[in-house]
Amino acid sequence: MTATWKSWPNLFHICLLLCATGAVSQNFLLEPRSTTVLQGSKVQFSATVEGKWNVMTWTVGKLLVLTVLSGGNITSSGQYSARFCPGGDTSCVEFTIHNVTRQQSGEVICFVQGEYGSKIAHLYVQESGTVNIVGGNVTVAQDQQVEFQCLTTGWFPEPTVSWTLSGQDVNSSLYNTTSMTDGDTFNSSSVFKFQAVHNTTVECLATVPTLPNPQSSSVLLVVVPKPTDWTVLIAVVVSFGGFALLVLLILGIIFCYKRRKEKQLNYQDEMRRVRTQSQSGVNAGGQRQGHVNAGYIPEGQTSVAPSELTDSGFCQRNGSSFEMPDVVNSSQAGNGYNSAYNTLDESGFKKHRHVTIV
Ligand SMILES: *[C@@H]1O[C@H](CO)[C@@H](O)[C@H](O)[C@H]1NC(C)=O
Ligand SMILES: *[C@@H]1O[C@H](CO)[C@@H](O)[C@H](O)[C@H]1NC(C)=O
Ligand SMILES: *[C@@H]1O[C@H](CO)[C@@H](O)[C@H](O)[C@H]1NC(C)=O
Ligand SMILES: *[C@@H]1O[C@H](CO)[C@@H](O)[C@H](O)[C@H]1NC(C)=O
Ligand SMILES: *[C@@H]1O[C@H](CO)[C@@H](O)[C@H](O)[C@H]1NC(C)=O
Repeated sequence: MTATWKSWPNLFHICLLLCATGAVSQNFLLEPRSTTVLQGSKVQFSATVEGKWNVMTWTVGKLLVLTVLSGGNITSSGQYSARFCPGGDTSCVEFTIHNVTRQQSGEVICFVQGEYGSKIAHLYVQESGTVNIVGGNVTVAQDQQVEFQCLTTGWFPEPTVSWTLSGQDVNSSLYNTTSMTDGDTFNSSSVFKFQAVHNTTVECLATVPTLPNPQSSSVLLVVVPKPTDWTVLIAVVVSFGGFALLVLLILGIIFCYKRRKEKQLNYQDEMRRVRTQSQSGVNAGGQRQGHVNAGYIPEGQTSVAPSELTDSGFCQRNGSSFEMPDVVNSSQAGNGYNSAYNTLDESGFKKHRHVTIV
């Protein structure tokens, strides 16, 4: 029992100690706990201390670089500076590293004298290097495969390399990038292959997260148009022209042939027409004249037998023909068996008519 009672004060003291240290850590803040910046920029940390304090120190890369006295006396060195937060509140101190370098990467420690102890923040510094497209401007023939190599040097960490063609992003499947360490930085090589079509600006870009704008290198790709394009064009034009000529020729031949056939047909038609016309003309004439004759025959005659009359000047009947001279006419006129007569028609032609006796 006594032992228990004796142990209570010890526990109480331990508790006091723990609670006290807990109170200390709650009353001393270092912000930010971690930061990443680009080499050459400035980085700030702030320490807020509750209660009364006297001395504060800042350590960067295991070097004590700055001391602050709560009374206002600040001793700084080189690229480090500190000041009380705006408003003159001595419980808050702003610590700044100007023109930060990769060597300052690591722990930044703030120590407040007394029971406050120390707080640690982490500083990461990135480095931007160089970008260069090997070989400069390029002139190639159209449709030729071109290869560009982009070298980046002195980056930390590994840069992200990308390409653009006339400002348009290139799909990352079209290029290969490999990186290698060079001391505490990285070199990288990116190879981009494509087919030259247009005149373009080829740009290689490299960046790290803290860099506001990527570093870049650009060259011109001058594409000389293919002379074979003209031969192709000429070939196309010539073949089209030839085809057109051929078509024209064929059309011409067809046209001529048709015309000729038509002419021939016309000629034949004409010939046929003429032939039939002449035949029918002869027939018609004969018939007409036959009628005329038939009309004339009864004139002054009463007993003239039906007869066949032609202009040929002779009659055919039962295979026998004979001519009847005017003498017969004059001597046998009174007999009335047959008659032949001469008559003068309106045209003044003298017509010689024959009558055949049946
Ligand atoms: C590429 O061409 C451009 C425009 O003609 C010129 O300004 C630039 O200097 C050239 N670059 C190289 C590396 O020759
Ligand atoms: C890049 O190309 C690949 C295949 O070639 C395709 O699947 C992908 O969608 C493309 N990415 C973009 C951003 O166009
Ligand atoms: C990238 O490299 C791989 C393997 O070396 C290869 O198969 C691929 O064709 C390359 N791509 C380009 C665009 O060079
Ligand atoms: C990185 O690039 C620099 C400059 O081009 C060169 O001197 C160095 O040898 C390269 N390092 C490696 C590991 O290739
Ligand atoms: C590229 O530009 C050059 C002059 O700079 C020109 O002679 C050439 O025809 C251009 N090529 C194409 C494909 O437009």
